[in-house]
Amino acid sequence: VKKENIRNFCIIAHIDHGKSTLADRLIERTGVLTEREMEEQVLDSMDLERERGITIKLQPVRLIYKAKDGEEYELNLIDTPGHVDFTYEVSRSIAACEGALLVVDATQGIEAQTLANLYLAIEHDLEIVPVINKIDLPSADPDFVKKEIEDVIGIDAQDSLLISAKEGIGIDEVLEAIVKRMPAPSGDPNKPLKALIFDSFYDNYKGAISFIRIFDGTLKQGDKIKMMSTGKEFEVTEVGIFRPNLSPVDFLSAGDVGYVAASIKNVSDTRVGDTITNAEFPASEPLPGYKKVTPMVYCGIYPAEGEDYENLKDALLKLQLNDASLTFEPDTSAALGFGFRCGFLGLLHMDIIQERLEREYNLNLVTTAPGVIYKVYKTNGEIIELDNPANLPEPTEIDHIEEPIITATIMSPTDYVGPIMELCQDRRGVYQGMDYLEPTRVLIKYDIPLNEIIYDFFDALKSRTKGYASLDYELKGYKTSELVKLDILINGEIVDALSMIVHKDKAYERARKMTERLKENIPRHLFEIPIQAAIGSKIIARETVKALRKNVLAKCYGGDVTRKKKLLEKQKEGKKRMRQIGKVEIPQEAFMSILKLD
Ligand code: GTP
Repeated sequence: VKKENIRNFCIIAHIDHGKSTLADRLIERTGVLTEREMEEQVLDSMDLERERGITIKLQPVRLIYKAKDGEEYELNLIDTPGHVDFTYEVSRSIAACEGALLVVDATQGIEAQTLANLYLAIEHDLEIVPVINKIDLPSADPDFVKKEIEDVIGIDAQDSLLISAKEGIGIDEVLEAIVKRMPAPSGDPNKPLKALIFDSFYDNYKGAISFIRIFDGTLKQGDKIKMMSTGKEFEVTEVGIFRPNLSPVDFLSAGDVGYVAASIKNVSDTRVGDTITNAEFPASEPLPGYKKVTPMVYCGIYPAEGEDYENLKDALLKLQLNDASLTFEPDTSAALGFGFRCGFLGLLHMDIIQERLEREYNLNLVTTAPGVIYKVYKTNGEIIELDNPANLPEPTEIDHIEEPIITATIMSPTDYVGPIMELCQDRRGVYQGMDYLEPTRVLIKYDIPLNEIIYDFFDALKSRTKGYASLDYELKGYKTSELVKLDILINGEIVDALSMIVHKDKAYERARKMTERLKENIPRHLFEIPIQAAIGSKIIARETVKALRKNVLAKCYGGDVTRKKKLLEKQKEGKKRMRQIGKVEIPQEAFMSILKLD
């Protein structure tokens, strides 16, 4: 296909508005796959994504479409995950496209999460084609949705397509609009190679495979390539396209979307956003927008049963093969034994990895509270990057501590400005400014400590704005802050895995909530268990788990030894998933319970 007949596009939609259904219909209509293949390949997303009702990533796919003008077109559909943790990846996928289908549910209208991606698309000058879906439903109100698109986004929605992805209505019109309304890619095949990596994954035989969009130049087997961010060089073993399974082709050239394999051992050498160039005829400059993503959120992950340590390590290594943004290193805790300190892009990323470890690798885990990286300036001049509160030096050795600050951009209908500002203020936010995008929509900026965002900020924002606000954030820098380490003592012993770093002003509230939660989650023992929260040697909150009044052994009168043993045996079974801390058995749930404070 000639370059004028290529269209690279993505679908932007709120969860459940019908992105996957439409993608399936487009694939079906262009006949790339038989029905059976569809079931096997396209719908074969991770169980986890299906259950959570979110698609994290769809495989790109190349469709061949014979348009009404008699010409054959190559349509490359690239997916855009819709969550703030993956905003950077989304921005790279969008940068690989010339157009976007904006799918809006005719019964729901525009929703918050759609907007962040949509604004990214507008920023990258993509041609936006509004598609109003689910017109088969009785409550569909396409005119209202059209007006909303015009009011909220400010693009012309008169030519919105009215479709039902489910019933297969209007699908040809979508394909025609992609061809007629979206521009062909520009770029020069004779210039030095510039290919944007927008995704990558690990293949056991071929090594790390990069998904690329070629802007200039050509790429074929045998070429020597260079990753512009690292200068590392590789020899291309295969180039190909997505049908949607990987199919080798002779070459890829300017405008094309495809993949490249080059015996790359590690996905961290195929960084999303990096530019691939030809090592012998290199481009002078990379494509704009590359950013090295680094973990923002850390937590400890420990096997519930110590003998699973090696299995956990293997599982993390396997997940990391496909996920360069997951980091981990061995860690030990007096309370939890051997485990790993892991780094993630954000909380959703953390949740996904934990769930995959538990489901796909059958591991029982104990996880510690998520935290950020602090810079600890010691009195002896040393600076420590601290990701584990348990390793905080003694107060006398600390000169000061800095914490990461993010700039949060919150987009919302004007009605919710009050509650949003209240929330930001409460989370130690510093107001930066406010912009009216139109009379009804506002953009609010706050600088907020990352530490205040990672617990439940997103949920709190949602509940205060009926789900209408969207959040995006980026790291701004570090700032000195009055931070203290909050320790939890159970039966007089510090449980290192429960320590956390908090702002001085928040310490009392946090301490009270944590001790309350722990009290609810620690079962009664034969003796009374004090649960205390302390800063240094100062106790600032206390709860008590009362002693059991009757105990199982009391019934035995110390007489029958075998009966006593049996009872003890039975008790043991009942508390398999417990952690022994000193004399106290703490259930796994207790460690999790402190994560949910509100
Ligand atoms: P995520 O994968 O979670 O991002 O959602 P999605 O946007 O891909 O939505 P999906 O295609 O999974 O559709 C969500 C639900 O809406 C499913 O139950 C679909 O069957 C239904 N649906 C999609 N299109 C239509 C339509 O045109 N009409 C009706 N009535 N239902 C539809």
